[in-house]
Amino acid sequence: MGKDKLRKWAENKTFPHVFEPELMPIIRGEATFKKGEWHQSVFGNNNPLVLELGCGKGEYTVGLARRYPSKNFLGVDVKGHRFHKGAKESLAEGLNNVAFLRTRIEFIQAFFGPDEVDEIWLTFSDPQPQDKAGIRRLTSKFSALKYKSFLKPGGLIHIKHDNPGVYEMALEEFGNDERFSIEEHHPDIYNGYVDQLSEEWQYILNIRTYYEQMWLEEGRKTKYVRIRVH
Ligand SMILES: C[S@@+](CC[C@H](N)C(=O)[O-])C[C@H]1O[C@@H](n2cnc3c(N)ncnc32)[C@H](O)[C@@H]1O
Repeated sequence: MGKDKLRKWAENKTFPHVFEPELMPIIRGEATFKKGEWHQSVFGNNNPLVLELGCGKGEYTVGLARRYPSKNFLGVDVKGHRFHKGAKESLAEGLNNVAFLRTRIEFIQAFFGPDEVDEIWLTFSDPQPQDKAGIRRLTSKFSALKYKSFLKPGGLIHIKHDNPGVYEMALEEFGNDERFSIEEHHPDIYNGYVDQLSEEWQYILNIRTYYEQMWLEEGRKTKYVRIRVH
């Protein structure tokens, strides 16, 4: 085990805005965690709640929190040493609208109640090319139907990705189902698309994640899909 990982895990335990609930009771269906309680018990307000699922280092969680102090942001990832960066940065900056949750997203319904979440960002989620049914793919309709159980009606799912298959699958799966509608999509956002958006959307879409930066340096194109949930 790398010393750096151990140091980050230990430091995460000292952060007041990092939550690492025991997983086994949740997997067995014997427990939930803060379900229906995030607004009051964690953030202490009723502001909109935005999740970044598979947040890695948490660039969207922290980047959006800086811009929107009157929304709450929760980064979720199973790898605590990754979101340690976002957790440390947000604490140092005194952002009181940020938290991180270490868990497996397969069990996400144990964490949120009906209408508790306003928006979800899926940033460069593992593409899972073998998973045709979309059971493990965080960007699939199978997963989105789980998210729908706690998203407000009219809530949004944003997908930012480099993989053409993930992009095309999202257009196909969400474009042909009346429970969802695709509001916006582009296959290569930094090639003329972002520049013609409002200043607000330029800020939002110009946040670059760690994986995104790597893929851009390899010449891959960033794709974006915005889905409204009905
Ligand atoms: C390709 S990385 C992208 C990270 C970050 N969003 C970025 O763009 O740099 C995928 C992330 O999703 C997390 N992840 C994948 N499947 C997960 C699951 N089932 N539950 C929780 N986290 C998961 C991984 O730990 C990893 O940090």
